[in-house]
Amino acid sequence: MGKIIGIVSGKGGVGKTTTTVNIGVALQKLGKKACVFDANITTSNLGLHLGITDYPVTSHELLKGRRAPSDSVFVHHSGMRVIPGSLSLENAKAVNIMNLKQLLGALAKKYDFVLVDGAPGIDRETLSVVEASDEIIVVTNPDMPAVTDAIKIIEVAKNNKAKIRGVVVNKRRNRDYELSAQEIETAAGVPIIGAVPEDENILRAISEKSPVVISRERAPSARAFKRIAADIAGVPTEGADIISMLKRMFFGIPQKPDIEKLTDITD
Ligand SMILES: Nc1ncnc2c1ncn2[C@@H]1O[C@H](COP(=O)(O)OP(=O)(O)OP(=O)(O)O)[C@@H](O)[C@H]1O
Ligand SMILES: [Mg+2]
Repeated sequence: MGKIIGIVSGKGGVGKTTTTVNIGVALQKLGKKACVFDANITTSNLGLHLGITDYPVTSHELLKGRRAPSDSVFVHHSGMRVIPGSLSLENAKAVNIMNLKQLLGALAKKYDFVLVDGAPGIDRETLSVVEASDEIIVVTNPDMPAVTDAIKIIEVAKNNKAKIRGVVVNKRRNRDYELSAQEIETAAGVPIIGAVPEDENILRAISEKSPVVISRERAPSARAFKRIAADIAGVPTEGADIISMLKRMFFGIPQKPDIEKLTDITD
């Protein structure tokens, strides 16, 4: 049985989707079967981070209880499975978020890790992700407003008896006006599991529609995401593992077919 990890935040725009796709691809590169799922129902954009505009099934359709016409799920060229949200606001209506837990449970039977890209805030949409996940990662930026909102979602998660894996501090500039790791840990009461620098490569990667861990794998942000993924996968950080380094050099990322049957997922 795979693990369902919800990626949530109190404040919007802190980097949940960026974190989801990069950790997803990094896990896949580590030889794990990863699936990313867009549970940001009203403002879905996970597919756009990956350049996917035409896909066989959306999270909206699955949450409405409909199977995809082609009965298939998108496989990114990295091998990571992707269930993006629909870009149409119309589709956000009639979605039954209560189906999320069952749906993710079914996906976890197929994949080692199901990463769930959540909506910001502490309303029903986010709560459903918290409730449906085995553990959650809270993304924040190192400033007071973002951390204050992160503390709220952590409180809500604790009240729901959710397991909190920790906090990812994203867009860190290492400036004295930022909250330090120690200050954030003390305020949040949960460990920091990664600090990702503010990095222009992320913006380039998004415009190129390819996660930074693929398009600029040596970038500081890419390294940080890979470290977090290695920790989640329970494997040594890249570089320490000479065999996988040689495999990557000689064989690259394995190519996979671009769709996969959804059998058993929505039943
Ligand atoms: N480490 C980083 N360095 C520089 N820019 C970043 C970094 N992480 C994310 N960004 C930028 O911040 C913006 C928001 O990122 P992202 O969409 O991942 O946030 P989000 O938390 O998913 O937002 P939302 O709450 O709207 O779903 C994007 O334009 C992205 O390019
Ligand atoms: Mg997002």
